[in-house]
Amino acid sequence: MKPLEDLAVYDDADFYDQEFAARTHDIPFFLGQAVRADGPVLEVACGTGRITLPIARAGVEITGLDIMPSMLARARQRAEDERLPVEWLEQDCRDIRSDRRFALVFSATRCSTCTTWTPWSRSSPRLEAC
Ligand SMILES: C[S@@+](CC[C@H](N)C(=O)[O-])C[C@H]1O[C@@H](n2cnc3c(N)ncnc32)[C@H](O)[C@@H]1O
Repeated sequence: MKPLEDLAVYDDADFYDQEFAARTHDIPFFLGQAVRADGPVLEVACGTGRITLPIARAGVEITGLDIMPSMLARARQRAEDERLPVEWLEQDCRDIRSDRRFALVFSATRCSTCTTWTPWSRSSPRLEAC
C-alpha cells in the first residue's frame, strides 16, 4: 500500500475548524443527497463532522469514518453535545472494515487518498464532489 499523504495537518482540530469555518457552500448539496438516498449514509474522511452533523440533524442514519483520532474526537464530542446518534469509525479508507451496506457513500473536499482509492466504492453508490 502506498504511503499516506502527510496527515500532520489534521492533528489539530482547532486549526482545521478555523480553516474550514467559512466553507459552507457544499453542505446543502450533500445534505440533499443524503436525504434523497433514503437509507444509511457513510461519509468517508468526515473530519470534525462539518457535513456529518448537519446530515445527522436531519434525521439521516449516518456513519462518519476518518483515520485521524483528533478529528474524530472533535466530531464525536459535538455529536454527543447535541445527542445525535452518529456511528464513528476510526479507519483508513483504504481498508474499510464494515459489513454494512450504505445507500450513499461520499467524501467531501477531495481527500485525495479517499477519492482515488476504490474498494469502498464498489459495494455502494458513490458520490464525490467539491
Ligand atoms: C480536507 S479534510 C476534509 C474533511 C471533511 N470531509 C470536510 O469536508 O470537512 C480531509 C480528511 O481526510 C482524512 N483522511 C486523510 N486520509 C485518510 C485515509 N486514508 N482514511 C481516512 N481518512 C483520511 C483526514 O484525517 C481529514 O479529516
